[in-house]
Amino acid sequence: MMLDEQYKEIRAMVKKFSDTAVAPLAQKIDHEGQLPKEIMTQLAENGFLGSYVPEEYGGAGMDYLSYALIVEEISRNCASTGVFVSAHTSLGIWPILNFGTEAQKKKYLPKMASGEWIGCFCLSEPNAGSDAGSLSTFAEDKGDHWEINGVKNWITNGKEAGVCIVFAKTKKTPDYKGISVFIVETTTPGFSIIKEEDKLGIRGSSTCQLAFDKVKVPKDALLGEPEKGFRIAMATLDGGRIGIASQALGIAQGAFDYAIRYTKQRVQFGAPLSDLQGIQFMLADMSTKIGASRLLIYHASALKDAGLPYSKESAQAKLFASESAMWVTTKAIQLCGGNGYTKEYPVERFFRDAKITEIYEGTSEVQRMVIAASELKAIH
Ligand code: CAA
Repeated sequence: MMLDEQYKEIRAMVKKFSDTAVAPLAQKIDHEGQLPKEIMTQLAENGFLGSYVPEEYGGAGMDYLSYALIVEEISRNCASTGVFVSAHTSLGIWPILNFGTEAQKKKYLPKMASGEWIGCFCLSEPNAGSDAGSLSTFAEDKGDHWEINGVKNWITNGKEAGVCIVFAKTKKTPDYKGISVFIVETTTPGFSIIKEEDKLGIRGSSTCQLAFDKVKVPKDALLGEPEKGFRIAMATLDGGRIGIASQALGIAQGAFDYAIRYTKQRVQFGAPLSDLQGIQFMLADMSTKIGASRLLIYHASALKDAGLPYSKESAQAKLFASESAMWVTTKAIQLCGGNGYTKEYPVERFFRDAKITEIYEGTSEVQRMVIAASELKAIH
């Protein structure tokens, strides 16, 4: 799939930003486990926090393919910054844009696009991971307001968030059928961060356990129809998975670029490593997996932009791109030998960052469930 001029320009613009503003800070972000405020401000100023929010709500008015390019190019230098953008945009903004009332869109989207309010997505719980429908957070109808009680796990951007998309049951069902969705502002009394996880990778991205203790929200905090929340979760994740696939692609490309340069300058047996056919074969396989990931991501994004079904395609893109990122980053370390195993070189960071892409927003096993279910339904 060829990108036309408009997308080439967007990629060039994000690449410049990523190489000048993100790359110099990537190692520090990983070591300190924190995204500097200046990066968040610059992301907002460049329109990357509201890329596909329509201009009437203060966004950049781009499409989803442009958003995928943004996440890829940023993640090529720093996967923590990449997922900050991705979780905020596809998990925080998109459900409001797609399911919100006009009043909700007017209230939240301009502040989210400007970065004043960062978004997060509160679905998973201590006992509800892949089986998201079994969550137990409950929102009780108190007449003039809702009261939310529960604990949420693995919440990306939990520390920075101003707005949470919270999934809670409003009917006590054993399955997904009683789930509704609420927009909760983190300044609401009863909201708190229980803990921030200490992780293997994406160390600059906050991953939090959040408590909702008698959190009182107004009636109009309900997003979409009551008890239709699981569909909203699944539809949101369909788009979110394109974002994570793009993050995985960026990680793989970053590791590959580094490995190429390393093998060209590293001399062993009297010649650069890149002269050896065994090394070239490894580079060729890495390049092919990266290229195939990119095509799957562009295809899923193009379907989404065209308003066509893309659930299977986004699962395929995430599955392939994340498993490719793990494979490519493993090979990148191999190509850099002992040096690649040290923190002096960036490939070990890419390797640690790649792993999470096989886990969050649906594990590789969940993606296979989605793909297989779709094929089994389509072919008689
Ligand atoms: N879009 C809209 N609706 C959908 C849908 C989709 N893509 N997929 C399913 N649905 C609907 C179905 O139509 C059905 O609705 P009705 O009963 O009204 O017909 C309902 O959802 C249930 O569908 P299934 O029977 O297929 O659901 P299931 O219980 O078998 O679950 C699953 C399927 C794919 C395993 C799902 O539970 C799932 O995706 N689990 C993984 C959850 C996940 O990705 N969690 C990540 C959390 S976010 C995160 O990682 C944190 C972060 O901050 C980054």
